[in-house]
Amino acid sequence: MRFKSFFFALPILFCAAFSHLASAQSGENTYKQVCANCHGAGVLNAPKFGDKAKWKPLIAEGQVELTGHAYFGVRAMPPKGGNPNLSIEGFADALVYMVNNSGGNWKSPDAKTIAAINKEVEARKAGLKK
Ligand code: HEC
Repeated sequence: MRFKSFFFALPILFCAAFSHLASAQSGENTYKQVCANCHGAGVLNAPKFGDKAKWKPLIAEGQVELTGHAYFGVRAMPPKGGNPNLSIEGFADALVYMVNNSGGNWKSPDAKTIAAINKEVEARKAGLKK
């Protein structure tokens, strides 16, 4: 029995130890699945992955602002990266991955930052209704 419960606990230990890596991993996956289509090649003038000069002023807007605006959609950039099922958390992690490969150094947003991003998105929505 003891042996069995050890194996039962193993995945939990792994999750605890690697949860900080998990969001980086899922950010990379989401980027590849959702964002790379446009941001890989610069389709429609999307700021290209790795183009530090293009990303510099965007990164300077700050994580809350930039993530909120992009998630809501801006000009030729579709809301949620064109994937209606993409959560704010998933979108934010994909953006962290893109930013950190384009000259920035952002972290996967914590609950407080996610709440602030959500507020930014809601403010944009409210602005549209006026
Ligand atoms: C259908 C193509 C397309 C997809 C898919 C896409 N983007 Fe974009 N994105 C664009 C374009 C085009 C722009 C430039 C918008 C402009 O300035 O006109 C842009 C701009 C941005 C910006 C800068 C916004 C600003 O304030 O100027 C961010 C951040 C961004 N995208 C993040 C993402 C993330 C993260 C994903 C994936 C989850 C994603 N995009 C998926 C086309 C796309």
